[in-house]
Amino acid sequence: MRVAILKERRSGETRVAATPETVKKYIGMGLEVAVEQGAGDASGMPDAAYAEAGASLAADAAAALAGAGIVLVVRAPEDGALAAVERGALLIGTLAADAAAAARYAEAGIDAASMELLPRITRAQSMDVLSSQANLAGYRAVIEGATAYDKGFPMMMTAAGTVPAANVFIMGAGVAGLQAIATARRLGGRVSATDVRPAAKEEIKSLGASFVGYEDEESKAAQTAGGYAKQLSAEFYAKQAEVVAAHIAKQDVVVCTALVQGRKAPTLVTAEMVATMKPGSVVVDIAADAGGNCALTKPGKQVVTPNGVKILGFTNWPGRLPAAASALYARNLLTFLSTFWDKEAKAPKLPEEDDIVKGVMLTRGGAVVHPQMKPAA
Ligand code: NAI
Repeated sequence: MRVAILKERRSGETRVAATPETVKKYIGMGLEVAVEQGAGDASGMPDAAYAEAGASLAADAAAALAGAGIVLVVRAPEDGALAAVERGALLIGTLAADAAAAARYAEAGIDAASMELLPRITRAQSMDVLSSQANLAGYRAVIEGATAYDKGFPMMMTAAGTVPAANVFIMGAGVAGLQAIATARRLGGRVSATDVRPAAKEEIKSLGASFVGYEDEESKAAQTAGGYAKQLSAEFYAKQAEVVAAHIAKQDVVVCTALVQGRKAPTLVTAEMVATMKPGSVVVDIAADAGGNCALTKPGKQVVTPNGVKILGFTNWPGRLPAAASALYARNLLTFLSTFWDKEAKAPKLPEEDDIVKGVMLTRGGAVVHPQMKPAA
């Protein structure tokens, strides 16, 4: 069976779905690998490294896809490439599909697996693309925040005087936020953090940051069975805003990572809060892809407010560390495929009743099978 690795074409996408390391493993599993030329260029993985690992190089997407039973991507292929995916092929990526896109995959006879829908269960941890990418995003956000900040993170005592430590506030302490806390601490910042899920409070403290937040009966049940934060009431958010507003005024760097699955990111930093921040301070909004946690975020851009606050609203934060992000993403996909692999047939075997398979499969055999993707949902 042949697996195709496509060059990503979506604007700003620097990652690739397989690395020379995973290509070797796929060949070891009995697959033939075709890599579209230039697929790894933006991740520092040249064609020659794929060829050395045993892949054949294809001149374009259509050539890579010809005869491929498996197609690996970071993001959903655009229409041109999608048309060249063969009927019956298994497409694996972070497809971010809606019901209409799922219907298109079904019509094209593509079995589509969307890895961002993976259930948050222990068995799935090593395939969890959201976690692997969020970890890197959290790290990178702090590094970019520190670079944009016009002082330094650690307290520095010099003969010319003392530079105080930066106050760094992390909003949202999931995978990205916890990595942001750890990174900001390593750089010497004075770190605090907030979240709404009760479990997050202990995790924040265990990393040496202080917890700042509002808690009540509603927030005691703020976590879904899947581990995500729930959408909470307007009253709760208003109380949370009261508590964090006074804190934000004293911060040098605010890193926003808060998400509510399947919704626009909650607005946690209002224009009024930004107006209270000191000139030279920074808001880093890694929720920008989902609309942003800061009301002034311009997704994809860096802006400076009239009071001199920089707001970094870049999108695709993991893509700012492409080599590491591709390496982890590629291993996530390899783990998924090798977990559901029929060694004798040398082909994927995706049992319909398996929780992981049920979580990710959008379509099978020409039909939409994911409950959230069915037209009536
Ligand atoms: P996420 O990316 O959906 O959200 C990021 C964070 O924002 C979450 O911690 C969430 O509680 C927080 N948030 C939402 N609304 C907020 C608000 N108004 N104010 C402050 N914070 C707010 O979440 P992520 O990072 O994907 O992780 C969610 C949970 O899943 C965590 O408990 C994590 O440990 C768990 N997890 C479990 C895995 C497994 O067992 N396989 C794998 C990965 C994560």
